[in-house]
Amino acid sequence: MSNTPPYASRHGLIGRHVKAEEAVPIEAKTAKRAAGPDVPTAEIAALARAARPGGIKGQGFFDRMFPDLSPLLAQDADLEALANAMKDSNPADPTLDNPTLPAGFTYLGQFIDHDISLDLTPLSAKIDDPTMLRNFRTPGLDLDCLYGGGLGPHRFLYRQDEPKFLVGTTSASPDAQNVEIPPLPNDLERTRHGVAMIGDHRNDENLVVAQTHLAFLKFHNKVVDHLVAQGSSPLTLFDEASKLVRWHYQWMVLHDFVERITETGIVAKLLTEGRKFYRFKTVPFMPLEFAGAAYRLGHSMVREQYSHNRVFRPVPPRLAPASLSLLFQFSSLSGQINGELPGGFDVLPSNWVIDWRRWYEFNTPPGTPNFEFNRSRKLDPLLTPALHSLPGFPPGREANLAFRNLRRGVILGLPSGQDVAALMKQQIPSLTPLTPTEIATGPDGAVAQQKGFDTVTPLWYYILKEAQVRGNGERLGPVGARLVAEVFLGLVQGDKDSFLSQAGWTPTLPSKTPGTFFMTDLLQFVGDISPIDGITTVSSL
Ligand code: HEM
Repeated sequence: MSNTPPYASRHGLIGRHVKAEEAVPIEAKTAKRAAGPDVPTAEIAALARAARPGGIKGQGFFDRMFPDLSPLLAQDADLEALANAMKDSNPADPTLDNPTLPAGFTYLGQFIDHDISLDLTPLSAKIDDPTMLRNFRTPGLDLDCLYGGGLGPHRFLYRQDEPKFLVGTTSASPDAQNVEIPPLPNDLERTRHGVAMIGDHRNDENLVVAQTHLAFLKFHNKVVDHLVAQGSSPLTLFDEASKLVRWHYQWMVLHDFVERITETGIVAKLLTEGRKFYRFKTVPFMPLEFAGAAYRLGHSMVREQYSHNRVFRPVPPRLAPASLSLLFQFSSLSGQINGELPGGFDVLPSNWVIDWRRWYEFNTPPGTPNFEFNRSRKLDPLLTPALHSLPGFPPGREANLAFRNLRRGVILGLPSGQDVAALMKQQIPSLTPLTPTEIATGPDGAVAQQKGFDTVTPLWYYILKEAQVRGNGERLGPVGARLVAEVFLGLVQGDKDSFLSQAGWTPTLPSKTPGTFFMTDLLQFVGDISPIDGITTVSSL
């Protein structure tokens, strides 16, 4: 470990954008302007050409869920003004915490995103046809971000002696009382230069998503032990374990995660009534409206500060608060873990290993010393300040995640929120679209109105505003919930190997309520609840 300032960034997030895709011009269609008379005609024509029916190229590509809707156009200056207004001016305000969503779900949400969607196109790339963009993840809850291509192509992820993942070891480091916490098996496996050896590089972009990835690696390893104890054959062990892991993960994502952010019971309802908007012939594709807008909802859930464990927490005794910038620093993609290279950290220090009781509802008894519980921030149009200046990007608007999302929506040719709502209303008459007055609420809404986005609203902003005014910031509103739930269910239904392929299957691994499996059950099964406290499982669940 060296004296490198903990806030200086080296690697950055920029590594996720390396390649511009080939552009293929196609038939023109009318585009819709949000505001501003001076969007270049050529750009309008290029974006307009992009809107056309899709879903024909299949798994490896992004495609359109609403191919008949016109793209929304907007000038960068207007998007930047809206992005700047989407800043949480008081990130410590407890009234903007989501009382129903523990903060662990933020990073589980990010982990899930990294399982299904990866667009490597630079923000500056000229794209004639977004439906020709490749998705570098399979659009299914198959955990390719964890398993890679499996034991064959991604052998380096696995142990030689048994079909388990390699897990890294942390380095000894002090707690707040200067008592040494020994090395623990709680880091990602890393190369000599600190780069995490994992199936998706983005899962070492911040420490909480990295520890979530580690929990899934350990989940697989525990399932292997579980199957060995049940007498499984070594020849089929890996396939059996990975299937059991995937099926429990899929069940958990639909019932624990998707239902929490949309509505309780929506999975059963859609299974009965059928999907109306996310359609594909045989294999699912990744919808641009989902990856480029709706599912970026998670960016508003991120907090500026957390209670990470008993060492990094908001109030003394502690070493420091667990700020988002420190959580970036203790990663290799955005921060300072760089192995044997000069400066930085060789591996994760032990005092940064997560205490899951602070991140998921384990019913930790009131009065537990030095303990605080983290809630996610509300689903609303406000992003925490640290996300307005991402590490690893040159200072300016491209480092502002809100601007990136809004601009990404425009270059992907996404329709306005109003057009999506109107289309959905044709099939769901009870759905009430947001009014311009509702969109204009709050300081961010005032800027939206000023720029003409109250009547023609970028889809990402619409979905967050809808969650704020219709879902009290606790859940998505009707358009967002329908879009997100249909896509997640479709991804599982379209996977011929998913748990839905076996009629009537319910989770089989040990859980608090047999036949169900929630994220808390998964962590309890892993048995690594707070390693620095020597806590493996809790009785309070
Ligand atoms: C600290 C937490 C997070 C950071 C720093 C972060 C950062 C980023 C960045 C830099 C991008 C690329 C933006 C662009 O160039 O278009 C991105 C994309 C994305 N993010 Fe996040 N994100 C975080 C959490 C989340 C969460 C919690 C979710 C969902 C629950 C999420 C969903 C997405 C999606 C769907 C994309 C598009 C992915 C693709 O298709 O490539 N992110 N994020």
